[in-house]
Amino acid sequence: MGKNDWSGFFLVLDGIDGCGKSTQAKKLCNYFKSNDIQTLLTAEPSDYDIGKMLRKYLQNSEIPASVDALLFAADRIEHCNKEILPLLNKGSIIISDRYRDSSYIYQSIEGKNEGVSIDWIKNINKFSLIPDLTIIIDIDPKIGLKRKRKQAINSQNQSLDKFEIDEFQNLIREEFIKIVKNSVVSDEGIHILIDGNGSEEEVFNKIMQVIKSYLKNNFKLK
Ligand code: TYD
Repeated sequence: MGKNDWSGFFLVLDGIDGCGKSTQAKKLCNYFKSNDIQTLLTAEPSDYDIGKMLRKYLQNSEIPASVDALLFAADRIEHCNKEILPLLNKGSIIISDRYRDSSYIYQSIEGKNEGVSIDWIKNINKFSLIPDLTIIIDIDPKIGLKRKRKQAINSQNQSLDKFEIDEFQNLIREEFIKIVKNSVVSDEGIHILIDGNGSEEEVFNKIMQVIKSYLKNNFKLK
């Protein structure tokens, strides 16, 4: 897809399961809205049909990684075309809870024995947009999984997905760190790693500091 010539701002929060990105994404959305900025909080897998199918597939460890990768790429194209791009062109801030980096990392690790490489995943994702800024929240996978298990107990219809096991999350974390180190400014947009240890408020303040230095001048924060 074309260059980032929209008037809006496309922000992604990503990281291992239970890193706190969903909580921070909600806080950011409320903060921008309180500054009278049109903001959309969205997530992947999306709420469109392919996204819904993916949520079911994520419970099934027999689905090949190649199928997951193709479906995530297709879901992303639909998500961009139907929701993200029209709003970016109208000048909104989009906050996406997970995006392309999750595909590069989760599907390349789950698909290592199937020959699913990051290069191939990048290729099938070339039809979706490059974010303006991606923030990766880094925490110890043990803490992340503890949060996820607690959430699963508290909510009746939420079970852990096939990736929410210790060894897998350790590998995922290493890959997220590598993505940030290798591509602070790259063909995948700007990536910044934030330490997710600390209170919700502390992590939020760290994220806001980063966002303020990258947000376009047309957005005025009080
Ligand atoms: P997650 O953000 O954990 O959603 P929730 O907290 O609502 O369960 O995302 C669901 C899972 O989807 C997560 O384990 C990572 C996985 N995923 C991929 O494997 N590839 C992708 O491209 C995306 C977007 C997510």
